[in-house]
Amino acid sequence: MVVYNFAAGPAMMPAPVVTQIQAELPSLGGSGMSIMEVSHRAAAFGVIITQAETRLRQLMAIPDHYAVLFMQGGGTGQFAAAPLNLATHHRRIAVLDSGQWASRAAAEAARLGIPAEVLATTKATHYRHLPKLPAVPADTYDYLHLCLNNTVEGTAFHHLPPVTGTPLVGDMSSNILAEHYDVNDFGLIFAGAQKNLGPAGVTVVIVRRDLLQDVAPVPSMLDYHLFDQKKSLYNTPPVFAIYALNLVLQWVEEQGGVAEMQRRNRIKANKLYAFLDQSPVFANLVTKADRSLTNVVFNTGSEALDQAVVAQAATKGLMNLKGHRSVGGLRASLYNAMPLAGVDALIDFLHDFETHL
Ligand SMILES: Cc1ncc(COP(=O)(O)O)c(C=O)c1O
Repeated sequence: MVVYNFAAGPAMMPAPVVTQIQAELPSLGGSGMSIMEVSHRAAAFGVIITQAETRLRQLMAIPDHYAVLFMQGGGTGQFAAAPLNLATHHRRIAVLDSGQWASRAAAEAARLGIPAEVLATTKATHYRHLPKLPAVPADTYDYLHLCLNNTVEGTAFHHLPPVTGTPLVGDMSSNILAEHYDVNDFGLIFAGAQKNLGPAGVTVVIVRRDLLQDVAPVPSMLDYHLFDQKKSLYNTPPVFAIYALNLVLQWVEEQGGVAEMQRRNRIKANKLYAFLDQSPVFANLVTKADRSLTNVVFNTGSEALDQAVVAQAATKGLMNLKGHRSVGGLRASLYNAMPLAGVDALIDFLHDFETHL
């Protein structure tokens, strides 16, 4: 049975990458040693981490005055690292509350004693559309935090809200390399790898170097300047995760880059949304213009029926369709590695399900 994994993260990896990892796992490049045994100071790993950085720079057109860092601690670690490294002047940040992950970022900053002001929120309407950013007062906040793709609620900023004079911090955990953004619009971008970039364990950070001046000491493992100086080798990095990330970046490159990923992702998502919009049973309640390309949330309106969908789908190899535990319902995550055939199989199943009710 062909299996399609619709999990939100850790998520489906490109099949050729998994096959290559399997083939190379016992002996990297004929060395007789597994990548799991290779030192982070070994020349072989030096090649891998340099390739990964070069590939990411090319794929996202990252200018030289941005550092590319491979850190640990996931997106959640960055909820602390961003304010610790960047909220150094005004000592306060602004947040556009578009969902659970943006609100978690605000809470983490506040926990560290850095006030996080929510400038707009759509919480009252279950985050089914994106909040509209009011005018951001100049010289007030060190940055504005934005979650570009709201993994739980299924919305995404396809266009950035207009902000001038306040750096943007973008959480791209669930749509990095899935749709195009201009890195120049951001002071900082971060993403945990486990959705679109590879296995869990490595976190990608892209940060404008001029923002890293005058930073008071922060914990070394969260220190952007230190990681930049040490080329992400301050301590032992997640060697295997960076190796796998490099292979995923190579795969994206071979497929045609971010533009091609975005083209495919639009086709996949539009097909599923079109099905849901005409279905008598299933519904997606997100405002159309704000719909995510990578996380499609939907439901039947009945918890019992939703559960039946998840269980029956699994018997057909359509795995992990359960919505996030905080919102329930159903969710299909369609990251770069999900082929159109997976979406077609899902639509066929859902159609079959509703006609046999
Ligand atoms: C948009 C977004 N930000 C942050 C996180 C937290 O990531 P992590 O589990 O790597 O800390 C997630 C996890 O799903 C996410 O979807």
